[in-house]
Amino acid sequence: MQVTDQWTAVALAVDVEPSTAVPVLLDGEEIVLWRSASGVLQAWEDRCPHRGMRLSFGFVRGEELACLYHGWHFDTDAACTAIPAHPDLTPPRTICANAYACAETGGFVFVRLGSGDIAAPKLPPATPVRSLTIQRPMETIVAQLPVATGPDRLNHIDLPGGPALLVALHPMDRSRTTLHIAMSGEADRPARLAAAAWSENFRRIAEGVAPLAAA
Ligand code: FES
Repeated sequence: MQVTDQWTAVALAVDVEPSTAVPVLLDGEEIVLWRSASGVLQAWEDRCPHRGMRLSFGFVRGEELACLYHGWHFDTDAACTAIPAHPDLTPPRTICANAYACAETGGFVFVRLGSGDIAAPKLPPATPVRSLTIQRPMETIVAQLPVATGPDRLNHIDLPGGPALLVALHPMDRSRTTLHIAMSGEADRPARLAAAAWSENFRRIAEGVAPLAAA
């Protein structure tokens, strides 16, 4: 798929916990999101610069990510800091993972694959609801949403008598799209249930399955 300078939400921030690494797919590109023990978030190509092992298989050690295969360590500048097979070697700073721009805002993790200098979105605080993947391309999802998709692939949807949802579209590849959903305003139990019901029924309709009957 074409790589653009588009900022795209690829996860809910709460789903990338400290000291974990999470694989995500964006426009067909494999990415590892990882968060250091102190909370620093990174988005890198999910490929070790040594022998190509998926970095999402690795382990977060404090403020570094260690590759599963030969244990090379990378810091939050994406630079290699240690090569266990050569403990006396200080790795040159030119050995780096391929880092992408990333930002946290509005409860989402945004990533930009391109190299352009486009400012990251700035969203007010929101309550995360859920992420769900629909087996349809993003174009199909856009056509079925009740509102026009805005910048940064974001959609503001006011449920009748219910919460205001912020729905971020995340094209995984040519056939799958993930919706990351957050809620503004009071996130009480009825609001959460309404948001969950809307998202599940939207998925079913988009995939051509009969929606659930209203409770
Ligand atoms: S493949 Fe990652 S350290 Fe060798």
